Amino acid sequence: MNRRHFLRLAGGGAAALACGGVQLLTSCGDGGTGPGSGVTRTPLPVPSTLTPTGATLTAAPGTATIASGETTPAWLFNGLLPSPTIRVRRGDTATIHLVNGIPEPTIVHWHGLIVPHEDDGHPLDAIDPGGSYDYDFPIVQRAGTLWYHPHPHGLTGGQVQRGLAGFFLVGDDEEDALALPSGEQEILLLLQDRAADAAHAFEYAPTADDLHTGILRDTAYGDGVRRPTVRVAGPRCRLRVLNASNARIYRLGLGNGAPLTVIGNDGGLLASPVQIDSVYLGVAERIDLLIDLTGVAVEGGLMLESLAFDMTAAPSGSTQGVEMELLEIVRAPGGDATAPPLPSTLSTIAPLGSPAGEREFAFQSSASGHTHTINGLTYDMNRVDEQIALGRVERWRFRNDSALPHPVHLHGTHFQVESREGGRGTVYPYEGGWKDTVLVMPLELVSVLVRFDPYRGVFPLHCHNMQHEDQGMMLNIEVV
Ligand code: C2O
Ligand code: CU
Ligand code: CU
Repeated sequence: MNRRHFLRLAGGGAAALACGGVQLLTSCGDGGTGPGSGVTRTPLPVPSTLTPTGATLTAAPGTATIASGETTPAWLFNGLLPSPTIRVRRGDTATIHLVNGIPEPTIVHWHGLIVPHEDDGHPLDAIDPGGSYDYDFPIVQRAGTLWYHPHPHGLTGGQVQRGLAGFFLVGDDEEDALALPSGEQEILLLLQDRAADAAHAFEYAPTADDLHTGILRDTAYGDGVRRPTVRVAGPRCRLRVLNASNARIYRLGLGNGAPLTVIGNDGGLLASPVQIDSVYLGVAERIDLLIDLTGVAVEGGLMLESLAFDMTAAPSGSTQGVEMELLEIVRAPGGDATAPPLPSTLSTIAPLGSPAGEREFAFQSSASGHTHTINGLTYDMNRVDEQIALGRVERWRFRNDSALPHPVHLHGTHFQVESREGGRGTVYPYEGGWKDTVLVMPLELVSVLVRFDPYRGVFPLHCHNMQHEDQGMMLNIEVV
């Protein structure tokens, strides 16, 4: 029995898994969740900060360090891995000069930012090698954990896989008033699953299976390094997690069984904090957590894990849904002994109100092979598929009749999740507030309320499984 077959049989009972490439929670003596447990972990790097006022962002080949003494060729923004974190405040203006130093067309999309069409990184705006593109847009939205990545049609998955993706953080006064942990107590975790060995970690060579399910690999990388570990002084930290994987979905949970405290998601703060045992994080979704280390001894560790989840409908051999260790958090000495209490109200979320219309989008994948469509259509970047009036509220229904998960993303706005029928059958409290990506698992029908404001223009709607989007699971929505 090969290992992939075994993983599949093990399903949710992953505790029984044999040792292999997968980082196991109950490993064969070489795992464990504390320091000194035998697994070599790499300190989580802190991304540098880029202020986007007259900034230049150059995408070019370079060398990534993925662990102590291990390097690999990669494609990098400004020569850096992790990519620089772009930080702005509401009311700022971003002026960014993008230079294409990679050997294929590219364009950068600011995922979750509400920007004019011409600043959105639409695939029509892709620039050739050696070209450049100038962005100039105001920050008109509330604080939130956004990100940026290439968006040329058909090439997004490969460029992200090779290293091009980073955080884009917006701050504002409302967030400041909460006095959330900051500085060294604010941890940014860009999650990707990759091959463990340096020779393959950042390569892009999708197999036929990868074109169907998306790329699924066995080892968690954080901010570009393999099996990350981070030291935190004091009893709590803010952990902002971005799933920048090609296809993998994580079900975040803590190794000590304590609940997670969620304070925000894609579009910023939730109305109030949510305590919950686990959080599904689909590709491109973000989650903002407060991690409580009061129960962890100094020099003790707490493991952020991906818990097993049911993917019985998935194709044979898929490792979607297996357990993984994601980030070891070690409590370091020092820091404030007492954490200030988290306010019970974080923000005010105004409901979008009654929809004036409704439309449905069916996400369909062939049972095998690599046909991935929406309403039977394959993306044509020059075609407008739907039109919606600026300011009009509509209910959009995302229907997944396939055996693969589809994380559905909409450019140009944020939406409110109303209901989920079939599959998991519920809207999780951490899916409240404003979202730009929602996970639609096999056989689920997710309804969201949408309104575009303030920009007219063409904005993509697509599955953010990067293989699916590259193969055309995308439509153009024109706001008129
Ligand atoms: Cu994160 Cu259309 O993309
Ligand atoms: Cu986007
Ligand atoms: Cu998909």
